[in-house]
Amino acid sequence: MQKITKAVIPCGGCGTRFLPITKAVAKEMLPIVDKPCLDYIVDELIESGVTDVMIIVSPDKQEIVDYYTPAKRLNARLEQDGKQKELALLTALENKVRVHFVEQTEPLGSGHAIALAEEFCAGEPFVLALGDDLMRAPVPVAKQLIAVYEKYGKTVLGVQRRALPEILRYGVIDVKSDLGGGTYDMNGILEKPSADELTSDLATLGRYVVAPAVFDALRRIKPAANGELQFTDALDLLAREQGAVAHVFDGKRYDLGQKLGSLQAIVEIALEHEEVGAEFAAYLNGRKER
Ligand code: G1P
Repeated sequence: MQKITKAVIPCGGCGTRFLPITKAVAKEMLPIVDKPCLDYIVDELIESGVTDVMIIVSPDKQEIVDYYTPAKRLNARLEQDGKQKELALLTALENKVRVHFVEQTEPLGSGHAIALAEEFCAGEPFVLALGDDLMRAPVPVAKQLIAVYEKYGKTVLGVQRRALPEILRYGVIDVKSDLGGGTYDMNGILEKPSADELTSDLATLGRYVVAPAVFDALRRIKPAANGELQFTDALDLLAREQGAVAHVFDGKRYDLGQKLGSLQAIVEIALEHEEVGAEFAAYLNGRKER
């Protein structure tokens, strides 16, 4: 089977839950210590074997493009000032993965955004990573899902169990059968069901390995009630026609779309940061004693 080396990250949403900062800064660029949250997702993909990432951006998110594009003037300045350590940091960022961009010029939904990656994917299966979901796991979550794709040869949805009422915020799996090892064969998936529509407690959490047939499915789905093309509807069609599996991944997911989730991710990552981790831990302990 062909190795999975491509990933797509849609960065469309306008981050209303993080206003006013998102008026001027893309939500994917909000910092976790010294890197934008998007870069932690890119690192998970690299650690999973991805060599090419396509980031789908809206026209007002130029800073995402800037982050992954060499900053010639800054590099020249660092060189001139003999700041080799900082220069090496930026060079490593420029070289760690090939990043491609495509602009979604109209906000027509997640399905419309992902359809823009068809040429990039060139008929290959790919990892889809949503920018609001940050993972911390013993084995990178995308890598866990790639292993399941390689085993079953079908689209894989990364899921975890969630209870009411939280589960109503997610795409929820309709389970056909238990395949063992935390993998479930699927009948379909429903986006943000109501409590009486729930078919399981398995919620999708922003990581997928998707078969290339999804682009055909995206052409055939109808817009949802809000007029947008929903990616989940294409996954549902794919599951019904070609089959798909859901896999319960090992790891903790932080919801960067929520203030609390974002703060939790910042604290966890800061505590392990090689430069400030120990001092930050001492600071937090000191605060507890106050
Ligand atoms: C998106 C997906 C949904 C998934 C969720 C995970 O929803 O559409 O199926 O469960 O991400 O974070 P959103 O959070 O963009 O509303």
